[in-house]
Amino acid sequence: MTRKIKLGIVGCGRGSSFKGVCDALDDIEIQAVCDIKEDALEKNRVSLGAQEAYLDYDEMLDKAGLDAVLIGTPMPLHVPQSMAALERDIHVLCEVPAAVSVQECKALVRACTSSKAIYMMAENYIYMRPNRIVTELVRQGLFGTPYYAEGEYIHDVKDYALKTPWRRHWQMGIDGITYGTHSLGPILQWMPGDRVVKVCCEAAGSRQTDTEGKPYGQAAGTMLCKTARNALIKIRVDLVSDRPHAGTNYQLQGTDGCYESSRGGPGDKDKIWLRSRDQHYCWRELSLFSDVPELAGKYLPADWRGASEAARRAGHGGGDYFELVDFIKAVRGKCPPAIGIHEAMDMTLPGLISQQSIAEDGRWIDVPDSRAW
Ligand SMILES: NC(=O)c1ccc[n+]([C@@H]2O[C@H](COP(=O)([O-])OP(=O)(O)OC[C@H]3O[C@@H](n4cnc5c(N)ncnc54)[C@H](O)[C@@H]3O)[C@@H](O)[C@H]2O)c1
Repeated sequence: MTRKIKLGIVGCGRGSSFKGVCDALDDIEIQAVCDIKEDALEKNRVSLGAQEAYLDYDEMLDKAGLDAVLIGTPMPLHVPQSMAALERDIHVLCEVPAAVSVQECKALVRACTSSKAIYMMAENYIYMRPNRIVTELVRQGLFGTPYYAEGEYIHDVKDYALKTPWRRHWQMGIDGITYGTHSLGPILQWMPGDRVVKVCCEAAGSRQTDTEGKPYGQAAGTMLCKTARNALIKIRVDLVSDRPHAGTNYQLQGTDGCYESSRGGPGDKDKIWLRSRDQHYCWRELSLFSDVPELAGKYLPADWRGASEAARRAGHGGGDYFELVDFIKAVRGKCPPAIGIHEAMDMTLPGLISQQSIAEDGRWIDVPDSRAW
């Protein structure tokens, strides 16, 4: 396929935020848009520059002649809408998390197996510049063997949920890790070939109530993950506590180096220690690896080295741009999707199993391997 990829977007919240990155890329065009909100549909069609607008998703898939669809609807629609596209051999880029239950995960894996189209989960945080630099340093062996990591997504979305009411239940009403892929996704890139095999989860009780006085799910949900290679990962997701936003907290410990991201406080910086560069224990700023030309030439991944202004300015630290670039490459058959169905399951299933663990008093529970399904 050499012509432009015809993209359909479903869900005009998050979905509409891809307008800028689509414009910045030559080989994709927004052919159609779909949302059930009739009053805003035409406005969204015009602002996205789409040819067509649909109130019904199946109708868009049947009539718009799409090559690919970007799914930006509420979480419980991700699997049914992904499957509807895959059944029609339309490529899927779907928002996170991939699914809201293990049963859904199984159905999605089956649909991917029988479709000619590709599936990619839109986990944009793996593409953020600091995360990509750490991935490259790991790839070049500078951390030795990574064996411990932490990821935290702490974002008070109580006000946000008033405008997006599905969040009240699916993200803030269920105990356990409901929105964990932004934290676990980058960490799994730092432990290539490894996967989470069991999890346990606890939280700090329900501490807040909504505008109707009903309690939210428990605050400060924390999941411990053991991996197949005996690494330990701690994931904390908190969408209800009153406090400043901290959505990109990460730590990595390897046999030869460690990394701690900025926690967003005054003067706080992403910092790193690598044995190969400093025999003594001392922090260096991670930004050295992108700002010092000699280091950037060696350690800044090629995509970020040549990043256009549009890429740098794109949402989520450029992540929205680079995930779309990777999706396009996969649609054109140049490489497998960067976060294909099994990588998506590796990032999604631990959070789903954590919900069972917390319901069973923090019991360790095995995480299924979707490759065995
Ligand atoms: N990757 C990221 O950084 C990131 C950021 C924000 C949101 N998200 C994800 O994006 C998704 C959407 O989040 P949001 O904040 O945009 O939510 P939202 O509620 O603002 O937008 C969802 C849109 O989907 C529409 N919709 C609902 N049911 C539909 C249907 N059956 N057919 C067509 N349209 C339908 C709604 O009318 C709404 O316009 C969620 O899964 C969320 O987890 C990801």
